Amino acid sequence: MTARPPVKGLDGRCALITGGASGIGLAMTRTFAERGTRVVVLDQDPHAEAAVRDLENAAVAFGNVTEPADVKAAFDLAERRFGPVDIVLANAGISQNCPTLDLDFEGWRRVMSVNLDGVFLTVHEAGRRMVPLGRGSIVLTSSIYGVVAAPERLGYVVSKSGVSAMAKALAVEWARHGIRVNAIAPGYVRTPFLEDLQARGRLDLGALERRTPMGRLIETHEVAEVAAFLASDASGPMTGQVVGVDGGWTAYGYI
Ligand SMILES: NC(=O)c1ccc[n+]([C@@H]2O[C@H](COP(=O)([O-])OP(=O)(O)OC[C@H]3O[C@@H](n4cnc5c(N)ncnc54)[C@H](O)[C@@H]3O)[C@@H](O)[C@H]2O)c1
Repeated sequence: MTARPPVKGLDGRCALITGGASGIGLAMTRTFAERGTRVVVLDQDPHAEAAVRDLENAAVAFGNVTEPADVKAAFDLAERRFGPVDIVLANAGISQNCPTLDLDFEGWRRVMSVNLDGVFLTVHEAGRRMVPLGRGSIVLTSSIYGVVAAPERLGYVVSKSGVSAMAKALAVEWARHGIRVNAIAPGYVRTPFLEDLQARGRLDLGALERRTPMGRLIETHEVAEVAAFLASDASGPMTGQVVGVDGGWTAYGYI
């Protein structure tokens, strides 16, 4: 692993990253750990331990973000191992792609549960612990579909719009406590999940690349870099922002 220079506001701090064992979250875990941040990953993936095994500064709290006790246990573990949590990345989320008339109530509840309840429980626990300390930086993973819409993604669009709104609502409520809350809104990111959909003929990655003004998908480490900037002191005056990491996707309004 190549050592990277310390970043103001990341080195020596403690971060909790939900969904930090795969895809974008794993890139966040690596980026932060390599910058000297001590990281606790809250993830329900049984392979989470293996995913971060090579990182010195990372530990795993196995659990579900929709379970209040699991979220609390992850913060407790982080505090025991590394001290007070300075940074929270509420990143765990699930996608859903289904015509609305085929979406049953159970499916709707599933996406709301992970993408909204899970983020609420994470930021609520974060706030309970950060407010008395008078500091903290929280970054939520929204999506381009928390900014614009696409057909057959009702639950995803509504839940991610809620995540974007949560960043703004919490930012204005907690600014006086020294806590910043921002969101990132990635475009289509090259993850094993997308590549699997492509391999099964359920997604046309070439079409997505052509729709993106920059002509390519986003890489996981690029999303992690923006999250690191937002979590660090380098973004000191920024709060309540939904920052696109999308190659120009949401700016584009032509054919
Ligand atoms: N991949 C993309 O193109 C893309 C684009 C925009 C936004 N996003 C968002 O980025 C985030 C990460 O997506 P990804 O593509 O890296 O997905 P991923 O499936 O590769 O990783 C998600 C991780 O979250 C964990 N997770 C899921 N539900 C959980 C739960 N209930 N409790 C604990 N852990 C749970 C999974 O085990 C997994 O490790 C999601 O919020 C997603 O909506 C992804």
